[in-house]
Amino acid sequence: MEGCGLRAVGSHCSLSEMDDLDLTRALDKPRLKIERKRSFDERSMSELSTGYSRHDGIHDSPRGRSVLDTPLSSARNSFEPHPMMAEAWEALRRSMVFFRGQPVGTLAAVDNTTDEVLNYDQVFVRDFVPSALAFLMNGEPDIVKHFLLKTLQLQGWEKRVDRFKLGEGVMPASFKVLHDPIRETDNIVADFGESAIGRVAPVDSGFWWIILLRAYTKSTGDLTLSETPECQKGMKLILSLCLAEGFDTFPTLLCADGCSMIDRRMGVYGYPIEIQALFFMALRSALSMLKPDGDGRECIERIVKRLHALSFHMRNYFWLDHQNLNDIYRFKTEEYSHTAVNKFNVMPDSIPEWVFDFMPLRGGYFVGNVGPAHMDFRWFALGNCVSILSSLATPDQSMAIMDLLEHRWEELVGEMPLKICYPCLEGHEWRIVTGCDPKNTRWSYHNGGSWPVLLWQLTAACIKTGRPQIARRAVDLIESRLHRDCWPEYYDGKLGRYVGKQARKYQTWSIAGYLVAKMLLEDPSHIGMISLEEDKLMKPVIKRSASWPQL
Ligand code: GLC
Repeated sequence: MEGCGLRAVGSHCSLSEMDDLDLTRALDKPRLKIERKRSFDERSMSELSTGYSRHDGIHDSPRGRSVLDTPLSSARNSFEPHPMMAEAWEALRRSMVFFRGQPVGTLAAVDNTTDEVLNYDQVFVRDFVPSALAFLMNGEPDIVKHFLLKTLQLQGWEKRVDRFKLGEGVMPASFKVLHDPIRETDNIVADFGESAIGRVAPVDSGFWWIILLRAYTKSTGDLTLSETPECQKGMKLILSLCLAEGFDTFPTLLCADGCSMIDRRMGVYGYPIEIQALFFMALRSALSMLKPDGDGRECIERIVKRLHALSFHMRNYFWLDHQNLNDIYRFKTEEYSHTAVNKFNVMPDSIPEWVFDFMPLRGGYFVGNVGPAHMDFRWFALGNCVSILSSLATPDQSMAIMDLLEHRWEELVGEMPLKICYPCLEGHEWRIVTGCDPKNTRWSYHNGGSWPVLLWQLTAACIKTGRPQIARRAVDLIESRLHRDCWPEYYDGKLGRYVGKQARKYQTWSIAGYLVAKMLLEDPSHIGMISLEEDKLMKPVIKRSASWPQL
């Protein structure tokens, strides 16, 4: 069967990264004696402020299986393709979109069971990411390259909402190829938020674009794309939107509700974890690709400074474990001056009841949001997984997040991986926070619904932390239902037992997310494209306990 996904090509992953991950131990494979080389990601932020040594290691073994050169058959966890994979590949290929003969992306859904298409017949930037990773892992980088170039062109368009002009760097949420069969022409329309429900620009699109450019570069070893003046400019435009100085007192990025995967009002305005984690990952990814020439050098310097401040802020103020929770519970309020312990004036009375029972003695996570007198204690899966992948989380914090997932499996994973957030909002709170959104009723859609696409992020986080068995458990759950239910967009219910009320079928990122998870488990060296190692010189300054290691 053509392209049924069995031709797995190892990603280009630097040797030192893999060494650090100690994947050989995690996967029970024989440890190879490997030469230690520095990866281009390992370029330290501290070092960067002084000198620039670029791209060490990126040329090494392009497209090889990199570290784990062991033939797959010799691995203890040998891979047996599940019949679902062939179907997934076929469905993924059916969703491909072409522009003047070239593949440029995948549709959000190819659901023939409903006439209500909305904008699911478009290529969404965030939705294309798992498709892109699947194609890269399968040795098909062309579609990814064309997508990156096409969206880069779209970035150059003038963007307006009514009479207001958006920033130059904004990337589209989605685009659509219009085919005129009579004239035989293809044209593109794009949405930067001006058509989106709620009229919010997608802050995550630009970050995903940079992350994907790095994944492409890592996977193919082809530096020529990221080094083009167009790509260099694209990255700088995206980041200049975020690095501009203003009234901010925090290094985190101030956002409107609905500016990311959760594209409806869900009380995530302010400083949502999803955006902060993607911002951090995009900054680090750009750092590994930007050329230190002309305004590139200045941009690099700003990135380095921001990364320092951002990681300090996130690791200290967003982190919650049993110890921190207890500290917040005992916080004094209305403290003035530099000596304040409760810097954001969080009211202990605002701690929701559920969190006291939910928090295990061992484990922790990054909370949903932190701002003045505001701490959103909800768990958000994407932000926490991306924190692990980008090394925004320290190694201890990453382990603690995995501990929490194991400990609170029923709540966070349930019967259909993975809850987008936990817990849901109900009653009065739902009315106030969502503005009575009927699509976001309790345990549905973005309000505590379960999204199969998140499987790839969970799997990647599991592999990075050396706990692939957790991902296998989640994959087993997916394999028991997803294909039978025709690859829904999301599931409803406290355990994720019901196909979502308004969920699309044949949702592309549910399909691609499954493929990526399977290919990651089959060949963990793929992790290099979507993971960044910790910057060793950036010491975590955490005064409070990162988890509960004493137990
Ligand atoms: C929904 C989701 C959004 C996704 C889009 C296309 O609007 O909320 O995250 O990108 O569908 O699948």
